[in-house]
Amino acid sequence: MSELYNFKENIKKEELENIAKVINNGGVVVFPTETVYGIGADATNPDAVKKIFEAKGRPQDNPLIVHISNKDMLKDIVEDANEIETKLMDAFWPGPLTIILKSKGVLPMSVTAGLDTVGIRMPDNKIALSIIEESKKPVAAPSANVSGRPSGTNVEDIYNELKDRVDIFVDGGDTIVGIESTVLKVVDGVVTILRPGKISLEDIKALGIECVLDKHIFEDVKEGEKVESPGMKHRHYAPKTKTILVENDEDEKMLQKINTFIVENVDKIVGVVCFSEHKEKIENMGAKAIEIGSKEDLNTISRKIFTTLRNIDKEGVDICLIEGVKKEYIGTGIMNRVIRACEYNVL
Ligand code: TXA
Ligand code: MG
Repeated sequence: MSELYNFKENIKKEELENIAKVINNGGVVVFPTETVYGIGADATNPDAVKKIFEAKGRPQDNPLIVHISNKDMLKDIVEDANEIETKLMDAFWPGPLTIILKSKGVLPMSVTAGLDTVGIRMPDNKIALSIIEESKKPVAAPSANVSGRPSGTNVEDIYNELKDRVDIFVDGGDTIVGIESTVLKVVDGVVTILRPGKISLEDIKALGIECVLDKHIFEDVKEGEKVESPGMKHRHYAPKTKTILVENDEDEKMLQKINTFIVENVDKIVGVVCFSEHKEKIENMGAKAIEIGSKEDLNTISRKIFTTLRNIDKEGVDICLIEGVKKEYIGTGIMNRVIRACEYNVL
């Protein structure tokens, strides 16, 4: 049986000590970060790391992010950061940013999936930081979800799928950002974003650093094609219900496309994950409107997107459209998750 600790109001000392003990004994703990929940274990212990892969049913070729609570922990794991990497750490850590750094080769093969790099991040969440501090170990933690499912942003969403596969669930309430950290790599003075998140292309450029998006952020990986980040190849976030992305455009155009789709599918119950501004109009078209937030409020949409994707299967609809947001700031990250949830079906 997994234990459940409630840290929503405050971090309980005895329970925190127990979490550290479990981690140091090779156990596995689900804990909150500011982005999504993670399934964590001692990154230096190969048997513990193996348990993470088992709990998630994760493909072995997909490396894990290593979480630290202070920069001193870097020196045992990775080579010295260069000037740009250091600037990014200073600007965004603790925070939703994972930096791919050159590995010293001391972590188990399973953490890095055999690559010569390690993804490192310092999360901006008191519970996560206390767990790392107390265990005195770098903590390897992928998102808390069975592989292929949307990442968990609260314990309720993931409890059933992960219970009895982990030792402890630490409940810290809903996560704030809602989508996973930005993953990036610095090559020859240029930052490439491999997975977009809250720390955006625009945020990085604002520091005077050259920054580009990897082409696989919005494009499917073709058979046999090389990818910078193995996670890009794998099926992700998709509900069982067929979902189709409605590309962001002017309101009238989006609503027109949705209306045409509903008319062409009169024999089906159509759901539409939509902006608050469009709810009434979509209901009047005869579809089930699933409101996600104002189109002006990307942070709320980000916070709610994974729970919304998880709940589509419970809405009693045959097919579901999802209104897309603008591909700017955190919107790039939201669209990266939604297009994959829709398996690249776009209207
Ligand atoms: O917000 C987050 O990053 C969450 C929380 C728990 O911290 N973690 C998370 O981990 O999303 P995960 O395992 O679900 O996603 C890690 C991503 C994968 O796409 C993986 O391929 C990529 O990071 N990654 C990890 N190490 C890498 C490396 N050395 N080179 C390239 N990509 C790497
Ligand atoms: Mg994940």
